Amino acid sequence: TWKMDSFVERTIEEIKEKVGDGKVLLALSGGVDSSVAAGLLSRAIGKQLTCVFVDHGLLRKDEGNQVESVFGENGNFDLNFIRVNAADRYYAKLKGVEEPEKKRKIIGEEFIRIFEEEAKKIGAVDFLAQGTIYPDVVESGLGGESAVIKSHHNVGGLPDFVDFKEIIEPLRDLFKDEVRKAGLELGIPEDLVYRQPFPGPGLGIRIIGEVNAKKVQIVQDADAIYREEVDKAAKEWKAQHNNENPSWKPDQYFAALTNMRSVGVMGDERTYDYAVALRAVKTIDFMTAEAAEIPFEVLQTVMSRIINEVKGINRVFYDLTSKPPGTIEME
Ligand code: XMP
Repeated sequence: TWKMDSFVERTIEEIKEKVGDGKVLLALSGGVDSSVAAGLLSRAIGKQLTCVFVDHGLLRKDEGNQVESVFGENGNFDLNFIRVNAADRYYAKLKGVEEPEKKRKIIGEEFIRIFEEEAKKIGAVDFLAQGTIYPDVVESGLGGESAVIKSHHNVGGLPDFVDFKEIIEPLRDLFKDEVRKAGLELGIPEDLVYRQPFPGPGLGIRIIGEVNAKKVQIVQDADAIYREEVDKAAKEWKAQHNNENPSWKPDQYFAALTNMRSVGVMGDERTYDYAVALRAVKTIDFMTAEAAEIPFEVLQTVMSRIINEVKGINRVFYDLTSKPPGTIEME
């Protein structure tokens, strides 16, 4: 990987030269791109970098703490890390809102507002850093994960209210696999470097209809069980098959909370609880997708664990829909 070695080292030198003794601000989402950008900038300029991580309370289970454990005070990087725990603010804004695009808009706007507040506290910076990668730059319209995600992206784009002089985008020339390689080299943990795509509005669009704290917790718990079992089964399969991935290994998989409640029995009790939908897709470009053929035994294990371990769910569905006509997310 001489090319990547030289990318990381060369880019660190370039950042040092460009930034000098200036200050840099980065919105860190915990996704691959912004994390690798943070890692590079940290190695180059240390505490001249401030990362603002907005935890909107719509992340996957424990994800906020994982991001903090990597980039926070006791993490692997030298930088200023600001975590904003904004769950209550988001839940208040989302109260009573059912329409998917309206939820996206609220979540996006709240992010901008919070980022703006934090930026004001920090004061003028010299550079605003972004984790833009090559597919974002070309915006070919041919798809590609980043282009797709970008086209979905929340309102606004660049926060033009932040007081900065210049943009710095250290990953502009890289494809996703190169970003991942750079991330590993920088010492970013593998589970973060290889994490599956996660939408900006997070669980906000994986809870069909109104979002609230209780629903968030239910879907987080169900989703954590689902991912754990799928990962475990894929790993076991791999170990038995010359380290090859099973054909059913999904490119994106998650649990979503349907807004439907139905009747069940638990012991002698009648229940009237939520139904969770399990989604798993095989896709190359996220423009089209097919349901992954997760082995039935794996799905059964997931079902029984979710029913037994997650209070508030009494029914589990598997989503077989292709894209098109379905979308990958349910909202
Ligand atoms: P759909 O549901 O449109 O998803 O088939 C295609 C890919 O885009 C992601 N996605 C989003 N990403 N903000 C994002 O950052 C969004 O609002 C959004 N909606 C969908 C989705 O997770 C999938 O990878």
